[in-house]
Amino acid sequence: MTKTLATVIRENYSAIATTYDGKWADVLAVHGRAVTDRLDLAAARRVAEIGCGPGRLLSYLERLAPQARIIGTDLTEAMLRRAPARFARVAGDAEALPFAEDSLDAIVMPFVLFHLPDLPTALSEVRRILAPGGCFAAVTWSGHDPHPAYDVWVRVIDEHEAPPDPSPQMPSGAVTSDPVELELALRAANFDPVDITVERFRHRPTAGEFLAHSQVIGSMARRIALLPADRRASCLAAAERELAGLEPEAFTESGTVLYTTAR
Ligand SMILES: C[S@@+](CC[C@H](N)C(=O)[O-])C[C@H]1O[C@@H](n2cnc3c(N)ncnc32)[C@H](O)[C@@H]1O
Repeated sequence: MTKTLATVIRENYSAIATTYDGKWADVLAVHGRAVTDRLDLAAARRVAEIGCGPGRLLSYLERLAPQARIIGTDLTEAMLRRAPARFARVAGDAEALPFAEDSLDAIVMPFVLFHLPDLPTALSEVRRILAPGGCFAAVTWSGHDPHPAYDVWVRVIDEHEAPPDPSPQMPSGAVTSDPVELELALRAANFDPVDITVERFRHRPTAGEFLAHSQVIGSMARRIALLPADRRASCLAAAERELAGLEPEAFTESGTVLYTTAR
């Protein structure tokens, strides 16, 4: 039986929940906090982060919305269980949210929209559960600068003939990475006004952090996991040798992200 896209996403995030809930969650949380700062949550009564993962943003939302019940929702229970238990934690799919119509004053979705197989349905769901005048914020990937360490990593994995990434690319990524397309999608779901700004993303891992992260998270990690143990070991040894020759700047991952706010 073919797996649904939601099942694939849930399996991927279940496998990486522990690693994700480390430095990577902290790197992304910078942007979650920055976009949330653009919302006025002082009088909000119910605020949800949908796709909250390990819940780095929830205590920040609590500070910005002192009168609100803060809710974390995620498709992947292994991620959601890592969120602080003092918050309401609700398992749910962004495309069929388990909340009543008009029941939330604010919804935030940092680094989630590009995962959704059916973006228009998810945006309509967000609109349905958002109270009139309620606000929405999201962060999505946009452009990527050249990343020499990643290029070496991909080449070494290709040379070891790792099979292709078994996870399908979500078509919504083409919309959520483009400010014009994303604005159109939000307007089609009856959001108005919509504000999208292009911001810089920059992460400077050490060589060791890059290698540790890349073996667990992302498309290349999924490919390398499909290699037989002996070939995987020689692939990692080759990658380590080649990466050791690079300058520290070669490990910097940078590019642009979109900060979206809407009502
Ligand atoms: C990149 S993580 C972002 C987590 C958190 N928002 C952050 O900024 O660290 C993406 C999260 O979205 C969740 N997710 C993916 N598809 C989802 C869906 N359809 N409904 C709800 N959550 C989803 C994943 O399980 C994962 O925890």
